[in-house]
Amino acid sequence: MGLLKGKRILLGVTGSIAAYKSAIIVRELVKAGSEVQVICTPSALQFVTPLTLGTLSKHPVLDALVKDPEAGVWTNHVELGLWADLMLVAPASANTLSKMAHGEADNLLLTTYLSARCPVYFAPAMDHDMHEHPANAENIQTLIQRGNIHIPAESGELASGLEGKGRMAEPEHITSFLESYLLESAPLREMKVMITAGPTHEPIDPVRFIGNYSTGKMGYALAERALQLGASVTLISGPTHLKSPAGATVVNVHTAEEMHAAAKAAFSECNIAIFSAAVADFRPAQASPEKIKKENSVPVIHLEKTIDILHTLGNTKTGQIVVGFALETENEEENARRKLVQKNADIIVLNSLRDEGAGFGGDTNKVTLLSSNKTVPLKLMSKADTAAGVFDFIIEEFL
Ligand code: CTP
Repeated sequence: MGLLKGKRILLGVTGSIAAYKSAIIVRELVKAGSEVQVICTPSALQFVTPLTLGTLSKHPVLDALVKDPEAGVWTNHVELGLWADLMLVAPASANTLSKMAHGEADNLLLTTYLSARCPVYFAPAMDHDMHEHPANAENIQTLIQRGNIHIPAESGELASGLEGKGRMAEPEHITSFLESYLLESAPLREMKVMITAGPTHEPIDPVRFIGNYSTGKMGYALAERALQLGASVTLISGPTHLKSPAGATVVNVHTAEEMHAAAKAAFSECNIAIFSAAVADFRPAQASPEKIKKENSVPVIHLEKTIDILHTLGNTKTGQIVVGFALETENEEENARRKLVQKNADIIVLNSLRDEGAGFGGDTNKVTLLSSNKTVPLKLMSKADTAAGVFDFIIEEFL
């Protein structure tokens, strides 16, 4: 789904036999693209080693309030709490749940919990009778009432040999629980986003084409961001070397004509259409069916205009939010504003080739966002952050 991608997650691990499954939780979260920082309680370390969790999460495990007592070095739990997008306590033992419910602060996990401003999820793990005990049930209720999110324990065989409720939810259930919860508050849930990306290749003959320097990075970053915001994404991509964003429907095309056909099919269904492709403006009027041989005379290639996909679809829009790109070298804003009107777009993302770090190929971009009544220059930043800026603008101004 992509909702966990880029999320900063604090994983609190407590002293329960289910702690061995926290390694799988880390692996699932990292696989989903999250950045994970593990905090263990002292008793969690009797069940799992920091080496396992640190290796899987790619961050040293934190387990002590005071890192180096002699040097007076401590772990800043307030900073940790602010860093995280979400905190997940899994497994959450009866002891830690009780301490969380009562505001105790005698280890790093608990002080971080008390400092965290982000949503906190907890997945209880204990024996059946402990789980059902009124004291524990009351602690769970208290935490829920305070806005913490309960990932209920599952029923089945328990480490004690008993059967019943108390097993920590399976790691893959925990990650899908997080994803569906995040989806409920995702700004683009139930929205369809269509994105054109990359160059087009217009054939001269079976081995040659007219193309351009576009790599598709900006369009793919937009697709990734739309997925993170909960949208279903159709990415119409010209030839690139990029990995398809997991969860997107990718339609691979070569020519402007193919891109137009695919975009037309997706456009009527979508809520947001972003035209970031560097579509060739001209193509050979007639592609040679056979390879043009050099011993013949030097060929003259007659060009004709390709269809302007953004112009054609923008002028048939029925409520879609239409976003176009403009790559300019002079009179940037004036040219971009003309495109906004002519192509009936709601937003133009303006790239100036005069800006260092902007445009084709690189991993950074510097754009200005233009709507009919706003001009918002963004800083030079990664294409991923630029994509986030484009969607922030769409959400703030149009949704
Ligand atoms: N575009 C398109 N189909 C084309 C050409 C461009 O959909 N055949 C879209 C691009 O994806 C981009 C926008 O139009 O969103 C602007 O493209 P650009 O090449 O900058 O502008 P043009 O209209 O082609 O004008 P010019 O090249 O003269 O600046």
